[in-house]
Amino acid sequence: VDFFFELYGNMPKNGPGSTESTLKALRMVPDIGSIKRIIDLGCGIGRHTKTLAENTDAHIVALDLLDEQVEALKSNLNKWKLSERVEVVQGSMGDLAFAKKPFDLIWSESSIYNIGFEEGLKLWKTHLSDGGYLAVSEAVWLIDKPHEKPKAFWDQSYPHLMTVSKTLEVIASCGYEVVGHFRLPYSDWWEGFYDLLTERVANYYSQGVEDKEKLEVLEQTQLEIDVFKEFHDQYGYEFFIMRN
Ligand SMILES: C[S@@+](CC[C@H](N)C(=O)[O-])C[C@H]1O[C@@H](n2cnc3c(N)ncnc32)[C@H](O)[C@@H]1O
Repeated sequence: VDFFFELYGNMPKNGPGSTESTLKALRMVPDIGSIKRIIDLGCGIGRHTKTLAENTDAHIVALDLLDEQVEALKSNLNKWKLSERVEVVQGSMGDLAFAKKPFDLIWSESSIYNIGFEEGLKLWKTHLSDGGYLAVSEAVWLIDKPHEKPKAFWDQSYPHLMTVSKTLEVIASCGYEVVGHFRLPYSDWWEGFYDLLTERVANYYSQGVEDKEKLEVLEQTQLEIDVFKEFHDQYGYEFFIMRN
């Protein structure tokens, strides 16, 4: 885990996304001025928490599980002068028992996979106000029969991947209405994420890493990037905006 953080740490993003896409999703939430309470689940180092804070008047709770992320989040909020605006909670998105009042908007970018899409939708429903909104980005298949390479990669790392139409069915079966959805562009995966990881992996290899566990992390990361380069037209990340 330590090496994982060394490799993935101190990057502008921890998953596919961008300020433009966060804003696009936020603009799809009707009557944003009436939103009083937002929770950002699996917020990481706060990339999108910053956008939410700067573009709404709501009280914002930012939640992440891991020490390293919460520390980086707090220091970023200080730097951005948002410490007063955003309440930081260290905890699991799978247990929101601390939240006494429902939220008007639950936000979760490239994080719901930690507990599973359907599980998250069901669990979070009880923490949303009536008519409240849920905005979630999640990996999806773009075609029904993907090539065996991306299929093998995703089956090993996240076997729950669904097509967009199947995801829409799950959303309806969980009792939400879809307000809108859109695909994250290629640049959301590449800029500030895979581009930096590509450089970092190459640097470690050039230093002649021998540790078996480190090599495994490097190989897995390189594989993820290579699969994406070749098959990004077969899977993607989709932002879904839903009403409770
Ligand atoms: C791929 S990162 C995405 C971070 C951020 N949402 C972003 O887009 O930059 C996934 C995040 O989920 C957090 N995480 C993992 N398991 C979690 C859990 N059970 N509850 C809350 N956060 C969790 C990780 O610490 C990490 O910050």
